[in-house]
Amino acid sequence: DAPGRTAGDLSGRRLVVTAGGTREPLDPVRFLGNRSSGKQGVAIADAAAARGAEVTLIAANLEVASPGGCRVVPVSTALELQEAVTAAAADADAVVMAAAVADFRPERVSDAKIKKVDGQERMSLELVRNPDILAELGAAPHDGILLVGFAAETEADYERLLELGRAKRRAKGADLLVVNRVGWNHGFASDENAVTVLDAADGVAAETSGSKMSVAHVILDLIAERLASGSG
Ligand code: CTP
Ligand code: CA
Repeated sequence: DAPGRTAGDLSGRRLVVTAGGTREPLDPVRFLGNRSSGKQGVAIADAAAARGAEVTLIAANLEVASPGGCRVVPVSTALELQEAVTAAAADADAVVMAAAVADFRPERVSDAKIKKVDGQERMSLELVRNPDILAELGAAPHDGILLVGFAAETEADYERLLELGRAKRRAKGADLLVVNRVGWNHGFASDENAVTVLDAADGVAAETSGSKMSVAHVILDLIAERLASGSG
C-alpha cells in the first residue's frame, strides 16, 4: 500500500500523533463527542512506525485498533489530550494533530447521573472553551518541532475550502495543514479520504485521495522531506 516509499526514511525521528475524537463528560454516563473514528490518525501512526519512526500515538476514544509498534497513550477529554501532547512534544521532531478536539466542554460535570424532573420540557447546557492545543504549540517556542494540523470543514466550494484552510493554518502557526471536507456522509468512519495539504507559504504541497493509508504516506512524505532539510 506504500508504492515507492523508502523503508526507514523516518528512522530515528520521533513523531507524536493524536487520533480519534475527544469526549467531554456531562455526568458518569453521558458525554459530548464527535464522529471522528481515528482511522486517518491511526493510519499515519502505523505508516510512520513502518518507515522507522518512534511513534507516540495519543489515542482519544478510537473506533479502530491501535497499531503495533507505537507507544499508545489513551486519553478521553481535550484536557487529557493536551496534557499527553505537551509531555510527548518536548522531545518530538513532529507533532501531527489528527484528533478532533472538542472546542467546548460542559462547565459542570455532575457526580451523579443527571435526572429529568417531572414536566421538564427543556434543558440547556453551559459550555466553556477548551484550550486550542495546536495553536498553543504554534505560539510557544517550538524550534525543531514540525507542527502538522488538520482542518475538518463542511464547505463544499473548493476555493473557499482552501481559504478556510489557509486562515486556519496561519491562526495555528502550523507548518503543514491537511484540509479535508467532512459531512454527514463522508470523511468520518470511511476507509477512504481526499485531502489537500497546505504549506507554510500558503501553497498546495499535495493533493491526494485514496485509502487512509495511502493518504498517510503522502503526508509522511512531506514531513520526511521537511525533517531531512531541517526546516520547521
Ligand atoms: N485543535 C486543537 N485544539 C482544539 C481544537 C482543535 O489542537 N481545542 C486542532 C485539531 O486537532 C486540528 C486543528 O486544530 O489539527 C483544527 O481543528 P478544527 O476543529 O478544524 O479547527 P478549529 O480551530 O477548532 O476551528 P473551528 O472548529 O471553529 O472551525
Ligand atoms: Ca474545532
